[in-house]
This record gives sequence, C-alpha cells and structure tokens, in this order.
Amino acid sequence: MKLLYQQMLAFFGVLLVAMAIISVMFIRSTSNNVWQNSFDQLEQYTDVLTDRAVDRSTYLIDTQFIQHSEEILKKQNVHFMIYDADNTARYPQFAGTPRGAAIASKYWKQLKKGESVALPELTTNPRNGKQQSMTIYYKPVFLSGKLLFVIAAFAPVDNIQTSIKKTEYNLFIAFLLSMLVAIVLSYLLARYQVGRINRLRQVTHQVAEGNYDVDVEIKSRSHDEIAGLADDFQDMLGSLRDSQAEIHRQEERRRQFMADAAHEMRTPLTTINGLLEGLAYDAIPEESKGQSIELMRNETKRLIRLVNENLDYEKIRTNQILLKKQTFNATEALNDIMVQLKQKAADADDTLVLDAAANVPVYADRDRFVQILFNIAQNAIQFTKGGTITISAKPGYHQTELAVTDTGIGMTEDQVKNIWERYYKADPSRKNTKYGESGLGLAIVHQLVTLHGGTIDVQSQKDEGTTFTLTFPDEETAPQQAPITHTK
Ligand SMILES: Nc1ncnc2c1ncn2[C@@H]1O[C@H](COP(=O)(O)OP(=O)(O)OP(=O)(O)O)[C@@H](O)[C@H]1O
Ligand SMILES: [Mg+2]
Repeated sequence: MKLLYQQMLAFFGVLLVAMAIISVMFIRSTSNNVWQNSFDQLEQYTDVLTDRAVDRSTYLIDTQFIQHSEEILKKQNVHFMIYDADNTARYPQFAGTPRGAAIASKYWKQLKKGESVALPELTTNPRNGKQQSMTIYYKPVFLSGKLLFVIAAFAPVDNIQTSIKKTEYNLFIAFLLSMLVAIVLSYLLARYQVGRINRLRQVTHQVAEGNYDVDVEIKSRSHDEIAGLADDFQDMLGSLRDSQAEIHRQEERRRQFMADAAHEMRTPLTTINGLLEGLAYDAIPEESKGQSIELMRNETKRLIRLVNENLDYEKIRTNQILLKKQTFNATEALNDIMVQLKQKAADADDTLVLDAAANVPVYADRDRFVQILFNIAQNAIQFTKGGTITISAKPGYHQTELAVTDTGIGMTEDQVKNIWERYYKADPSRKNTKYGESGLGLAIVHQLVTLHGGTIDVQSQKDEGTTFTLTFPDEETAPQQAPITHTK
C-alpha cells in the first residue's frame, strides 16, 4: 500500500475512533440527563401530591386535585396512582375495582424501608390498561414510621425517546460532517508528509546517479524527524561533495605529477639520445666528444637524482623514514653548510652571513637537518644575484628557531602558495642549471620538517627577497614521530 494511503488510514483511523468515543459518551450522557430530568420532574409531582392530595390524619385522598393535575399535565401524558399500605391501588378506581397492577414485591420492599424508587418499566397503563414502557417514580408516604400510601407518578417513555432520538440524529449528522473533514484533513496531512519523503527520494535518486549538486530543501516549522533526516542527508551530501572534490583533486594531482615526472625525465633523456645518435653517426667532431660525454654524464646524474629524490619524497610521505633524532649544536651544522655553499655563493656574487650564537642546541636528525637547511640556503643563492643571504639560529621557547633570508628575486603571493608542490617552479622556462632544479627540493623539505614535528613558513616580496622561517621542537615537546599531515 502506498505510504499516502497508509498515512491517511492512520490519521483517519485515529480521528474515527476519537469521534466514535466522543459520540457514544455524548449520547450516553444526554440520555442520562434526559432520564434524570424526567425522574426529577416526576419526583416533584409526587412531592406536590404528598403535600396536597393525601391527608395523613384522615387518610383521605383529594381525587379532584389529582384529576386536575392530570388534566394540566395532559400534554406530557403524566398520570398518577396512589397505593394503599397493602399494595392495592386507591387511585384511580374503576367501578370499585383497582385496575392498576400492584407494585412488584422487590420495589415494595424498598418502599417500605422508606426509599423512593425511580425506574423505566414495562407496565400497564392504568388509563387504558395497555402494556407500555414508562418512567415511573414511586414515593412512599409515612406517618410516624408507618407506611400510609405510595404515590406513583408515571409518563410514557415516548417523549423521552423522541428527544434522545433527535439528539442522536443531530450527532449522526455532526459525525458524518466531521468524518468528511477528517478525510480532507488526513489527506492534506498525509500528502504533506509523503511530499517531503518523496523529495528526499528524488534527491537520493539524483545522488545515486552521481549528481551531488542538489539541495534537499525541506523546510519545516516544527523540527520533526523528517526535517532532521533531511538535515542529516544534507550534511551527508556535503561530505560526499567534499570527498568527490578531494578525489578530483587527487586525480588531478596524480595526472599533473605523471605529466611533470615524464617531462622532467624526457628532457635529459632527449639530450642523451641526441648526443648518442650524434656519436653513433659520427656527427660530433672529435674535439667535442669529450664535452658531449660530460654532458651525458651530467644528464644521467640528473636523472638518477630525480629518481632518488622521488623515492625519498615517497618514503618520507609514507612514513617509511625513521629519524635518528638527537640534540646537537645547530651552529656547527650551519657552519658546515656555509662551507659547502661558499663557492656557489661566490659564483653568484652573494655574501653568506651566519647569525647565531656559538652554541644553539637543536633536536633533530642531523643529516636531515642539514638536508633541509642546505636546500633552503641553496635556493636562496640560486635566486639571488649579488645579494646577501643570512642564516640565523636562536633558541626559542621549547624549540629552536631558524631563518634563511635572502635579498633575491622574491615571489608573488600566488607563487608562494605553490612552492611546496612537487615539481613546482615559479619560472618554468628556467632551464636546467648546475643545481638541478627539478622542483622537488621544497616538497621534500616540507615533509621532513613536518616529520620532525616542526613548522616551516615563508614570507616573500617580489623583487625584494624571501625569508624562510623554521622551528624545531626540543626533545621534551617533540612528538615521537610526527604524523604526516601534508601529503602532496
Ligand atoms: N629563495 C627563493 N627565492 C625565490 N624563489 C624561490 C626561493 N626558493 C624557492 N623558490 C621558488 O620555489 C620553487 C620551488 O623550489 P624547489 O627548491 O622546490 O625547486 P627547485 O629549486 O626549482 O628545484 P630542486 O628540486 O632542484 O630544488 C623554485 O623553483 C622557485 O621558483
Ligand atoms: Mg631547490
């Protein structure tokens, strides 16, 4: 069965049961009221008769008064009977013989005890002797503890029943009308609920087909379960969109990486191939052969370096490198780097400055530390002509702070954003120099610093210079082996 009908049935069922219960209760309470009113009336009549129609001392009955009363109450069909203490009818009398039946003994016993009795009963109408349903009220009259008379007032139940029937009829009409309203209401409510569920289904269908750019758009004033489900669904969509975007990004990166790697390798391979062909066909003059072989050696070295660096990068990225961390003097290590780079700096007319106290302790893997600083310093020399490169180190709070500042070509904001990417070169037209320039240096540096639990930042101004700042946590605060978060 469709949800719409299920919902309608549920709403309708609830309303139907509620209406039925209310109707039954209403009918019962009205009929009780009507009966009670009728008995109250009859009781009042018997009270009047007790006062006015029977004389307890003379034991006489004012027949005329009773007849007058009956005359007045003719419309309501109310009649009276008066019984003697021996349960024989004293009024009305028909040719000396009482026609009204004696009161049933079980009621008579109650009356003798002084209790009034009110009941609907199938009895003989004393006026016409017919069997009829009536409401009867019996009231005993005592004189100093002795039962004298029983006064009975009765009326046919027809009047009462007609009024109850009328109420029932009105109620039935009201019932029908409310059922109609219930059907319309339950339909509207069910349609509203089902509409929201259908919207969710639609969206799920679209998502299943791979379209994540959809909105659930379920608005609800009361934040109910369906609205909650829609919210959760929307959140799930957000996550799906994010992971989809991440997959695309990864895919794009992988594609870019393959293209870059291929490109990087093709250049030296093409050079080597060209030179080999030249040698094979004797197209290279004898005096240039030595130079060609030297060029090929350089290109092969470059290829080996490229492959090694790629492997290194992957190892660091996948946490396959175990750092042999220890505390040592950073100034000493920096001095070594200065010595190694002295020639390169001189070639570029750069002045190398070391700004550090004699002993600045740092907690790191010494070889990796040198690799990091060497790379950064080498970059600084590479991109600075006739400037100054300052390498500084100082102890900080639970860490060692280092900086490499140059007065070189600097970078734009956009370039700065990308320098940690593999194969990124701000100026791709720059050809292979003696330093390599594969665009892997900083990607590896970043991974290594992260692996140490340290940080690396860069500030750069185009044509003004660049500063790399690094921190290495001390032995107390350094993580065991920092998890790799930056995966490029
Ligand atoms: N000190 C600097 N001043 C200006 N640009 C820099 C500096 N350091 C790095 N860059 C830019 O960031 C890019 C990436 O540097 P990275 O060291 O990763 O690669 P690379 O030096 O080109 O090649 P290699 O893998 O041989 O180091 C450089 O190509 C350069 O454009
Ligand atoms: Mg470099």
